[in-house]
Amino acid sequence: MKVLVLGGDGFCGWPCCVNMAQAGHDVVMVDNLSRRKIDVDLGVESLTPIATVHDRLRAWEDMGGRAIRFVHLDIAQDYHLLLELLRSERPEAVVHFAEQRAAPYSMKSSTTKRYTVDNNVNGTHNLLCAIVESGLDIHIVHLGTMGVYGYGSHRGATIPEGYLTVEVPQADGSRFREKILHPTDPGSVYHMTKTLDQLLFYYYNKNDGIRVTDLHQGIVWGTNTDLTDRDPRLVNRFDYDGDYGTVLNRFLMQAAIGYPLTVHGTGGQTRAFIHIRDSVKCVELAIDHPPISGEKVRIYNQMTESHKVKDLAEKVAAVTGAQVSHLPNPRKEAIENDLIVDNRCLIELGLKPTTLEDGLLSEVVDVARRWADRCDRSRIPCVSSWTTTQAAALKAVV
Ligand SMILES: NC(=O)c1ccc[n+]([C@@H]2O[C@H](COP(=O)([O-])OP(=O)(O)OC[C@H]3O[C@@H](n4cnc5c(N)ncnc54)[C@H](O)[C@@H]3O)[C@@H](O)[C@H]2O)c1
Repeated sequence: MKVLVLGGDGFCGWPCCVNMAQAGHDVVMVDNLSRRKIDVDLGVESLTPIATVHDRLRAWEDMGGRAIRFVHLDIAQDYHLLLELLRSERPEAVVHFAEQRAAPYSMKSSTTKRYTVDNNVNGTHNLLCAIVESGLDIHIVHLGTMGVYGYGSHRGATIPEGYLTVEVPQADGSRFREKILHPTDPGSVYHMTKTLDQLLFYYYNKNDGIRVTDLHQGIVWGTNTDLTDRDPRLVNRFDYDGDYGTVLNRFLMQAAIGYPLTVHGTGGQTRAFIHIRDSVKCVELAIDHPPISGEKVRIYNQMTESHKVKDLAEKVAAVTGAQVSHLPNPRKEAIENDLIVDNRCLIELGLKPTTLEDGLLSEVVDVARRWADRCDRSRIPCVSSWTTTQAAALKAVV
């Protein structure tokens, strides 16, 4: 199958590209390399030394991998080039990873808020528009986030896979049942863009019959897959800084360098997680099982387990002997929340969940130890605050 991978140079996209090429797909990687540029702007680097996109692709071919072509293109800005690309490549599927994906980065300033909205919403809308204009029947597999459901209290209810069945009272006292998109409750500008993506998919699916699978992904942990482990030039990125590092990878990296684990607030925040190997597998399953013509947007909860942040810290401390430190929370969010998630769809399609118990925690610690000398400890604290109230609390401890 011909597959375009938008954002294929990123943390989730790169292992996905090689996995699809290995599976025999004809893969075209599209990326504007903005993530690498943001590293330069922020003055940080991936903990793992990542090869340039061209060296990565050469290395993959040197190792006998099926060639992956690279197209340098900004999907949010270069609409006509995107349309031309669809027309010339005629892909059967487009996997869409190409968004600014860090909540703290999105909350840094008015510049990063506006960039995140412009980039993410325009990119998704350009893709939908270009598919309609091309007249091609292309399946979109989009990476959304579990954060669209919100991290407030769900009062013990299980979060369904995208749609909620509601009963609507009528004037005559009767009720009718309907399945609606689950209400959204974004916790950052980044998460808000993902909720807007959802509406765009809903509309273009209804109006133009565009086939979409929206993967509401949990926080991804781990670094490499079996394929990216094969050669140092294939190594995947590892973000550890306060803007782009995600909680579990940050804890594992902090443990590796003897830095107290940075728990924000009480640590009672519950989040959903998935290992990078499972993330790659889920995208493969979504591509292999496309929605049929006329089907409404398919939504899968792409996560394998939920944990409270403080429990994760304790788990990592137990494995590594790390200290835990409690810091003011830079985010405006619930102190505690529940998160019970229905994730049956991907499991029924064949996902075999990798869990924290599978010994992979120490694998990540080993990767972090190997590259510990590349870590800039001054970039570990989270300094991007959600409002001036959180900013003042952060300042008080500096
Ligand atoms: N990493 C996670 O924990 C996580 C969790 C849930 C959802 N997701 C979603 O998965 C997707 C990929 O995340 P990631 O961690 O790989 O992020 P990433 O930043 O590492 O990768 C995104 C890639 O998209 C590219 N890109 C961004 N805007 C673009 C544009 N306008 N045109 C072309 N390319 C563009 C970037 O250069 C980068 O290579 C994102 O949409 C993200 O929201 C990630």
